[in-house]
Amino acid sequence: MNVVILAAGMGKRMQSALPKVLHPLAGKPLLAHVIDTARALSPSALCVIYGHGGEAVPQAVAAADLSFAKQEPQLGTGHAVMQAVPHLRDDAPTLILYGDVPLTTRQSLQRLLDSAGADKLAVLTVELDDPTGYGRIVRQDGRIVGIVEQKDADDAERAIREVNTGIMVAPTAQLKQWLTTLSNDNAQREYYLTDIVARAVADGVPVVSAQPGAVWETLGVNSKVQLAELERIHQRNIANALLEQGVTLADPARLDVRGELVCGRDVTIDVNCVFEGKVELEDGVTIGAHCVIRNARIARGASIKPFCHIEDATVGAAAQIGPYARLRPGTELAEDVHIGNFVEVKNSQIAAHSKANHLAYVGDATVGSRVNIGAGTITCNYDGA
Ligand code: UD1
Ligand code: CA
Repeated sequence: MNVVILAAGMGKRMQSALPKVLHPLAGKPLLAHVIDTARALSPSALCVIYGHGGEAVPQAVAAADLSFAKQEPQLGTGHAVMQAVPHLRDDAPTLILYGDVPLTTRQSLQRLLDSAGADKLAVLTVELDDPTGYGRIVRQDGRIVGIVEQKDADDAERAIREVNTGIMVAPTAQLKQWLTTLSNDNAQREYYLTDIVARAVADGVPVVSAQPGAVWETLGVNSKVQLAELERIHQRNIANALLEQGVTLADPARLDVRGELVCGRDVTIDVNCVFEGKVELEDGVTIGAHCVIRNARIARGASIKPFCHIEDATVGAAAQIGPYARLRPGTELAEDVHIGNFVEVKNSQIAAHSKANHLAYVGDATVGSRVNIGAGTITCNYDGA
């Protein structure tokens, strides 16, 4: 299959200098979420259409398996897909995704691809209580015959609650042909991708629909309000998965995972903790309130007390850290090490059962086992001279 991701739009309502699709959700650009989901489907071609924001977009997500096509100016969703035509292989269908719709699941896309097969046009649709703003799915005798945009719709069409999410799968050779026939003779003077539905009907190509597992999978980001809403939905999904796996969360609404959090059995996490990058918490680990932990491995039975900051570090089994401890890159703590309040450790290895319980800076040090580092001690940058 080919995948085209539309990401050329402006995102004016974000009120930001950063291109819309580069705004982070769970610490990762919106567009990167869409690319990662597309990758999970193993496409033979993966093409991103960019425009607004210029080269910042391809620079932010560049990878060997991606191609980019610039759309300048932006004359509509149909015009956007036209830019991808040279990148699309005719022998496989084309899936069209939006760079500002980050939470679509692989399972829902697979369902859409399955219903499209090799030769049908398939549209991902949802029923909304308030369909305002969306393209409406027009059916006759149950069969899809067209999509009408809000601004072009009459009253009867506006009453339709089944809407186009924008995500579609089309047979590629026909798609390319249909794109050549699009016109911008409509209320917005745009080349609408949605007009390919009527072309397919005219050509006798079956048009089918599939529905996502949940409506939030199809929500797009046009404003900071919507970005914040999707962030909460995404974080709640992550929290639910952790709970189901047996992790104790003091409050699933007060957890932020911006990367990958891997937990063993009987892990407990108190409120307002942030996990970034890859974090591994082994069996029996306890994380106190208000900790920020990034790219770290915390071994079994360790206890991280409230208000700790840990980055690029490993913490040994049964260690006790904090409250108010800072572990900086290159910290390697062995079993049962105690690091207490207002202690900063950087680029240091501390062996089993050693302690630095109060007010110290341990930098660039190799500390043996059962060492007690007293309050106020500083080690740093010692070069042997
Ligand atoms: C589009 C659909 C509408 C659907 C809605 C779902 C068309 C004509 N309409 O409407 O049926 O209900 O999405 O949200 O397709 N983009 C480009 N280049 C362009 C225009 C858009 O890359 O020239 C990108 C945008 O960045 C965005 C996506 O395409 O990611 C959708 O664009 P948007 O303007 O939000 O589409 P709508 O007009 O809202
Ligand atoms: Ca939109």
